[in-house]
Amino acid sequence: MRTNYCGEINSKYLSKTVKICGWVHKTRNIGKIIFVDMRDREGIIQVIFSSKKKEIFQKAKNLKLEFCIQVYGIVKERNINNINLNIYTGKIEIFAYKLKILNTSQELPLDFNNYSSIKNRLKHRYLEIRRSNIIQNLKTRHLIIKYISNFLDNKKFINIETPFLTKSTPEGARDYIVPSRLNLGKFYALPQSPQLFKQMLMIAGIDRYYQVVKCFRDEDLRSNRQPEFTQIDIETSFMKSHKLCQIMEKMIINLWLKIKNIKLKNIKKISFHDSIKRFGTDKPDLRNYLEIIDVNDLFIYTLIFKNVNHKSMRTVTLKIPNGINLTYKKINSYINILKKNYIKSFFMMIIKDFKLKQIYTNFSILNKFNIKLETEIINRNQGKEGDILLFVHGSKKLINKILGKIRNIIGQDCNTINKNKWSVVWITNFPMFKKNSDKTLSCVHHPFTAPENLDVQNLLQNPINACSQSYDMVINGEEIGGGSVRIHDIKLQKTIFNIIGLNKITQKKKFGFFLNALKYGTPPHAGIAFGLDRITMLLTDSKNISDVIAFPKTTSGKCLTTQAPQSINTNFLNELGIKIK
Ligand code: AMO
Repeated sequence: MRTNYCGEINSKYLSKTVKICGWVHKTRNIGKIIFVDMRDREGIIQVIFSSKKKEIFQKAKNLKLEFCIQVYGIVKERNINNINLNIYTGKIEIFAYKLKILNTSQELPLDFNNYSSIKNRLKHRYLEIRRSNIIQNLKTRHLIIKYISNFLDNKKFINIETPFLTKSTPEGARDYIVPSRLNLGKFYALPQSPQLFKQMLMIAGIDRYYQVVKCFRDEDLRSNRQPEFTQIDIETSFMKSHKLCQIMEKMIINLWLKIKNIKLKNIKKISFHDSIKRFGTDKPDLRNYLEIIDVNDLFIYTLIFKNVNHKSMRTVTLKIPNGINLTYKKINSYINILKKNYIKSFFMMIIKDFKLKQIYTNFSILNKFNIKLETEIINRNQGKEGDILLFVHGSKKLINKILGKIRNIIGQDCNTINKNKWSVVWITNFPMFKKNSDKTLSCVHHPFTAPENLDVQNLLQNPINACSQSYDMVINGEEIGGGSVRIHDIKLQKTIFNIIGLNKITQKKKFGFFLNALKYGTPPHAGIAFGLDRITMLLTDSKNISDVIAFPKTTSGKCLTTQAPQSINTNFLNELGIKIK
């Protein structure tokens, strides 16, 4: 039906006859000429209907927005005054000699020039995709899959699909479940990831596996989280983790080069503990140069804070560079975050004449500072005139979490984030376990992750101090991937299950099939999974994950295009043996 895409025609085609198909983007009737901007997925082109061609001129008069049309025409140079350098086709126009209306369109339910509610946009998602830059994002997503598949293919990874109707895989979220009609009262779980299948593929001798695969997690949604999202899932046998990480770095570096023409540099490794200490988070945005500075040692004898030396407490400073220029309201907003999070011991000082001057405190700190202390604090923070220092004391957990957040906000407010830079970092050596509120232990990564020290006795004696052989890749503060060396020894696997409180019966019920598979010459193996949606967000500068997904869910897990989820009629429920409470 066509010779070219609208958006791909330029001066090279001058005087040529083309046939194009697309939608009416805009029309302008100036009497003897009708200008129509015609659009397809590649872009917009200007089409001219002249009154000299009576028949099609009459037809063109009836064109309305989003009519689907086909045009035959000759490519002509635009009048110099009409050149539009903002678009690829801006130097030419199509002089139409044939017009076919392929389909009419009702008046649009969305207003693309003004604000249309997100609800309305998602309801008519196909129209939003057609007219917005989401189409560009989807094209970038396609390229990412293509480049990564080629890269992995070259490295001898095989693309293998794994089942969706399966058994629960523990990745820390709730499962989506599917009832089985043929096995009444029984349910499948949709995979939170193909973790155990890819490990079994290593046992099967596949050696290098990958898959671009949907994962399903019933969890609270955020701007970077969807209930169904896509992973680039990877597993290898007989490969040490540093080698796997090297290959993965190369894959990501290649990808950024191909899509953005940017060379990522200096991929650092930072341990989990270091990251938490310096940035308050295991997903640090290293484009922001601010760090949380420990000052416990300086405050022991000042008696300003209680329990400074206690191992569960931290006393820190965070610099607000050039804070003197911030509004009172802004400064107050930091104070409010601290207060809202029940942090009581904090105050603020400003650097003036190389000394510290109190600007906010809710308790007395008068006479507790001396020149030596002030100088040391200023030096440690590399403080300058006009900088404000935020002093905070409290439980390590709370301080890390809240100051990590405030660091990001100050980064935005004080321009300490270099937005022209990319920061890529591996976060390594996560703890194996975390303590739950009921004092039981659970895994920080999934329970198939190998500990740093593979000695079972050691692990049993002091599990909370064990580190895992795991690694996350973080770009600009966004966790884009995570993986680990896996346990390939059944005894160690059972020990981990025991430590997280799975008794023998539960182990057998939940993971019997996998424990059984581990018995048959399991090779040493390691793997990783990248979040395709998050990578696409970064590569398209999108702020929300739904901008890179064709049909995303709302934060309450609804698909507004189809109105899913829906109730199910009673006959169907009866057939499945299900009754709604
Ligand atoms: P993990 O749970 O860390 O690891 O997931 C891997 C990557 O998937 C992305 N991701 C998400 N993206 C969008 N929405 C979500 N709800 C969501 N959840 C995770 C993140 C994350 O880094 N089986 C292990 C991997 C392994 O060990 O090989 C796993 O799934 O970018």
